[in-house]
Amino acid sequence: MLKKVRILIVGFGVIGRGVARSISEKREFINGKYGIDFELVGIGEREGSIVCEKGIDPMEACMLKSLNEHPHWKEGAKAIDIIKGVDADIVIEATPTNIDTGEPGMSHMMAAFETKKHVVTSNKGPLTVAYTRLKKAAEENDIKFMFEASVGGAMPVLNMVRGTLQANEILGIEGILNGTCNYILTRMMTEGLPYEHVLSEAQELGIAESDPTYDVEGIDTACKLVILANSIFDMDISYKDVSVTGITNITSEALKLAYDDGYVIKLVGEIQNNNKPAVAPHLVPKDHPLAVGGTLNIISIRTDLAGEITVTGKGAGAVETSSSILSDLISIANEIP
Ligand code: HSE
Repeated sequence: MLKKVRILIVGFGVIGRGVARSISEKREFINGKYGIDFELVGIGEREGSIVCEKGIDPMEACMLKSLNEHPHWKEGAKAIDIIKGVDADIVIEATPTNIDTGEPGMSHMMAAFETKKHVVTSNKGPLTVAYTRLKKAAEENDIKFMFEASVGGAMPVLNMVRGTLQANEILGIEGILNGTCNYILTRMMTEGLPYEHVLSEAQELGIAESDPTYDVEGIDTACKLVILANSIFDMDISYKDVSVTGITNITSEALKLAYDDGYVIKLVGEIQNNNKPAVAPHLVPKDHPLAVGGTLNIISIRTDLAGEITVTGKGAGAVETSSSILSDLISIANEIP
């Protein structure tokens, strides 16, 4: 007997569509392995929503150029209204990151908690602006709030620390947490291509943020450090507590000079001891574990019992990020009676 779990996707950009596609493609696998059937009952977008309590075909929605072509499209129906009004178990919040207000994700998440819906998100904005408030609201409403996809895309970080490494004190973290910057630095170095050219390639790959200055100015990496600091180190910090330098001043010539000296330049984020969390370009020896190329992310976690644990993987991309979102969905679905 399959357990039906009703889900809403809010935000149908690269990530929202990627999740819908993976839910469709992995349906039989998830049915068979976990006895769970995710039923998509609503998709919320800026200009309107699709709502169908009998279930929406996720692949059909993905194939549409515009969601308003769907027979169940309701022009003007706001995402927040469907979060409040539609009977669902889990909301996947995948609207773009806004680190000034956290909106619209912030209101979406609070509305979900208040109406007793669990939340899975990749959206760094609300987590950066108001992590403690969100966590408290989720707890008070006895709701699960999971966000593995917000740090490092497909790479297991938060759940690995919370699960497998739970007996450890985490002493420090350093890593490359932005695929766009890593891609740009790698391509500029290996091909000598100009910065603007490679940035537009990263946008075409669907790995850059909606506003790519978040990537290249180090803001995205800083948001991920805030999430790590608050959720792993139990800090209560926000973006202003991170020292941030991006990659916009790095030239192909600088990359080449470094390379000839045996180094690569990487945008590294770190939280060490009592130092202020920091994001800055670092010279990394070519043979150092952090010297991963292309869109890869990497994170090294220093612990008291396990020593150093290093994980690398795809830190961005629709399908890759959907791996973490689906993992959080399955974890929550397993706990729904
Ligand atoms: N723009 C981000 C990156 C996406 O390039 O890593 C994943 O957070």
